Amino acid sequence: MKGTHRMETDRQRPTARNRAGGGPDWEDILQKAAADVLHHKAAGTFPLADQVMTQRADTYTCPQRFERERQRIFCRAPLILGASCELPANCDFKTLEIAGIPLLVARGRDGQVRSFLNSCTHRGASVAAGCGSARRFVCPYHGWTFDPAGALIGVASAEDFGAVDKAALGLKAFPTVERAGLIWAILDSASPHDPGALLGGFDDVLAGFALDGWTYVEGRSLPGPNWKLAFDAHLEFYHLPVLHRETFGPDRSNRALYYYHGAHQRLISPKTRADIPAYADLLAQDANPDGAVDPEALLAGEWIVFPAVSFNSFYPGGKRGIFMSQVFPGRTVGESVTIQTYLSATPPDAEDRARISALCDLLAHAVGTEDIPTSFHQQAALTSGMLEEVRFGCNEGGLQHFHRWIEAVVTADDQDLPSLLGTAAVDG
Ligand code: FES
Repeated sequence: MKGTHRMETDRQRPTARNRAGGGPDWEDILQKAAADVLHHKAAGTFPLADQVMTQRADTYTCPQRFERERQRIFCRAPLILGASCELPANCDFKTLEIAGIPLLVARGRDGQVRSFLNSCTHRGASVAAGCGSARRFVCPYHGWTFDPAGALIGVASAEDFGAVDKAALGLKAFPTVERAGLIWAILDSASPHDPGALLGGFDDVLAGFALDGWTYVEGRSLPGPNWKLAFDAHLEFYHLPVLHRETFGPDRSNRALYYYHGAHQRLISPKTRADIPAYADLLAQDANPDGAVDPEALLAGEWIVFPAVSFNSFYPGGKRGIFMSQVFPGRTVGESVTIQTYLSATPPDAEDRARISALCDLLAHAVGTEDIPTSFHQQAALTSGMLEEVRFGCNEGGLQHFHRWIEAVVTADDQDLPSLLGTAAVDG
């Protein structure tokens, strides 16, 4: 298989653009990508970035840089807080922490999902822990009580406490929407933006996964190093047969075709695998171009949602599922967490759960004992100051794209965010 260098053009550089009337036809875009995959498979080619890109080591290790990323990416861009099916019923809730910000996500009695700072408006204690179902949240410190819509509904010993405006002391709420079966929020209660307006229509393509009505099966959290070091491993296949030679890597191609959608992207192997149903359907389309292709086949590959979420399809027992990895910064520049979540298209029975559990064990083992320890070693070297820069190869175009977009969002003015992130840009 030969590499073909692709010149970097203005279309591939992140820029603020005006959305020109109407969104793209996502199915058409996916059909073209499928045809492109088949073309490269037949021709034995794959595109390469035009040149090797270098990145200063301190962009991974500098506390001031980390604080800018926390404020300008994680408090301004829409983040996926979870799948809608994690909170299937009214009053379901979950908690998580992103870049040191404690969060509570709850579905209200009205069915609407909201996200809040998980912090009591009396003196800041967390009002919820873990996940579950609650008709009210009682602060464990002094007993103030909030409903699932965030309203302060009870002040303990109110007659002793003194006058407070309960209507103004609800939990701090963040702009939150459900789109494509996912929960998105901007972690800035004063943000003027609707999270959905900053997705550039990428939620329309993610809707192809049809995640509404799926079942949350299981999840786990893996502590890691700097969030970019942890997420870089999701953005190339170069390492798969080497780092993962003992687990799932030996039969994998180390080459990836990249398809860019604004800040987001998709990686797909040019070595299509007939044992994966979505790929098998692509191959069938190749053999019979006039045959109907299952829309699911158009979604093959690894999907990357900016800033740091990935989706992969799996078929344990022939039943479709999605493995979602969310990488979030921790409290300091050298900490992150990877939240791994498995979602099933159909309610799993006991046999399905056993298969899914085995798959999730393997993936947690691969990430937890292969990727993350390697990233910690990288971090130690970069923090030492002895290695000034790292480099992303021509075969690591997805990494180049990711780091350019990080820079673009960190440096963008607030008023440019809608045209930068909200533009339905498609770079093939
Ligand atoms: Fe919550 Fe006091 S901090 S009731």
